Amino acid sequence: ILMTRPAQAAPNVDNIAHRGGAGYGPENTIAACVLSGKQGANMCEFDVQQTNDGELVLIHDQTLNRTTNVEDVYPERAPWRVADFTLEEIRRLDAGSWFSSRYQGEGVPTLKQALDNMGGGGPGLLLEIKHSPLNPGIDRRVATELQENRSLWGGKRLVLQAFDWKAVRALHRMLPEVPVVVIGKPGLGQLDELSGYAKGITLPHSGLTPDYISKVHDRGMRVYTSTANRRPLIRRLIAYGVDGIMTNRPDRVWSVKRRW
Ligand code: G3P
Ligand code: CA
Repeated sequence: ILMTRPAQAAPNVDNIAHRGGAGYGPENTIAACVLSGKQGANMCEFDVQQTNDGELVLIHDQTLNRTTNVEDVYPERAPWRVADFTLEEIRRLDAGSWFSSRYQGEGVPTLKQALDNMGGGGPGLLLEIKHSPLNPGIDRRVATELQENRSLWGGKRLVLQAFDWKAVRALHRMLPEVPVVVIGKPGLGQLDELSGYAKGITLPHSGLTPDYISKVHDRGMRVYTSTANRRPLIRRLIAYGVDGIMTNRPDRVWSVKRRW
């Protein structure tokens, strides 16, 4: 007997390039996100922080030295906190060379550049707002910048996420038309309240069960998982019913979906 798998549609799971696609390019850069789009990602996840002059830039750490050449350019400015530099100063930095000489000259992007990339046909955006005392008022600035650039994201895939659930709720109030997602591991007893403002939850894949996912779905929310890079794990998470997978290897999520 010839065993064939029943024909199934490719699963509708967001393929989200973690930090823009940190496996194949320098994290939190436009170049990495462009490459991720070519590899099948339909969204890029970026981390949003604030400069000394209140501009919004995409970088994961609170400091610039791991992912840029700031120590060479400003040797006297330790500990090189993002919040201590103006955008003009940050524009002089190279955020690509540490990863590979092929990315020499790639800058720390602004939020506006990421929106431009999406508006020009690039992947959608999952923006993680990094709340800390170093980023005061960041939600208001994000809301203003998104409102001013509505033409770039209107009708496209734009989602905001954060660890600070109160701030997520505030973002929802400021930007009711943009879906917001909480990062964490809510208990079942917290789901009803969350569903009052959040469109989904980003949580670790460890410990995730189909039962938990269906209970989140019952409340009308989506389930995104944090970074999964191996194909068997990606396959299992899709079978469990997740709605989006963050990955440093978007080509792998794409290939698992294609062969589903
Ligand atoms: O789960 C949230 C996702 O963005 C991973 O976190 O540390 O890479 O910003 P991180
Ligand atoms: Ca992040």
